[in-house]
Amino acid sequence: MKNTRAAPDVLILEALLAAGAGHVSGTALAHQLGVSRVAVWQQLEKLREQGFAFTAVHARGYRLTACPAPLHAALIAAHLRSHGRDCPLTLLDEVDSTNDEAARQLAAGRPAPFAVLARRQTRGRGRLGRAWHSADNGNVYVSFAFRPRLAPARMQTFTLWMGVNVCELVANFTGARPGLKWPNDLLFDGRKAGGMLTEARMDADEIRDLVFGLGLNVNSSSTAWPPELAGRAISLAEHTCVPLDLNRFAAALLGRVFLAYDRFVAGTFAESFADLWNAYDVLRGQPVTVLQGEQRVSGTALGTDDEGALILRTAKGRTARFRSGEVTLEKTR
Ligand code: BTN
Repeated sequence: MKNTRAAPDVLILEALLAAGAGHVSGTALAHQLGVSRVAVWQQLEKLREQGFAFTAVHARGYRLTACPAPLHAALIAAHLRSHGRDCPLTLLDEVDSTNDEAARQLAAGRPAPFAVLARRQTRGRGRLGRAWHSADNGNVYVSFAFRPRLAPARMQTFTLWMGVNVCELVANFTGARPGLKWPNDLLFDGRKAGGMLTEARMDADEIRDLVFGLGLNVNSSSTAWPPELAGRAISLAEHTCVPLDLNRFAAALLGRVFLAYDRFVAGTFAESFADLWNAYDVLRGQPVTVLQGEQRVSGTALGTDDEGALILRTAKGRTARFRSGEVTLEKTR
């Protein structure tokens, strides 16, 4: 549902996006916003200062001719509204970690769901305490906050389900098909394009606060990676050789993740989860080693089951299932 009381800049951008190559009259905008034409003009001037460009044609009105390349909250909101969605979002210039910020906002009582995005993170985190490189380089760092009130057992497939949805979105948006490496990596050609980090706080028997964090390498260039990531990380733009419209992409991503969450809570996919995952699985049929605590098990990956556990056929022909662990793809000779 769209919240009709959106901010004036969002409403103006939504009207101009809807008009495409056409014009929107100042009078129509003023009427829609319930303000004077001078107030509309003042809003347009503010947007100009933020990197937007408009042409104004006498008796026809305004046309949007350029948008800022970096993330812009009102533009993301306008894109979302033009697809009939309205997701509360906060965009920060800099934050320690969007996951931490979302958790703080949930703890402070902000109504969920909502999304927190940042242009850069100073302490971006990955799984197993690893750092997530989070420079201001055209990539997306976003966390989604929910209060699901679900039994913890229901959450087993949550991150994997979100991974499938993010892959579908990326494939639809770019035409390029990413792969998934269990349990939380998004890859192109064996290089990491994204990672997911889900964190939850429990009450006695249900999930109270849930934060789904996603780092996606969207527009960063191959020269921008620090040496330890060079050759191991890749962005969507590097893979497709085309820079993405970051704000349109972010809006599509937000819309998809909120929709995926609703579908997850409704549980409509449950029976066919393994098929969904296995369609993107890059490990299936490959020799892998799973490290789980002190335990190290090698074998051939067979995909996941409907609970999201990784299935392995060991060298001795035994079948092993893993709910957690770190997987290394072994080199084939
Ligand atoms: C991983 O690959 O281990 C997961 C990486 C998750 C990174 C994202 S970026 C947005 C959110 N904020 C964080 O601090 N981490 C997640």
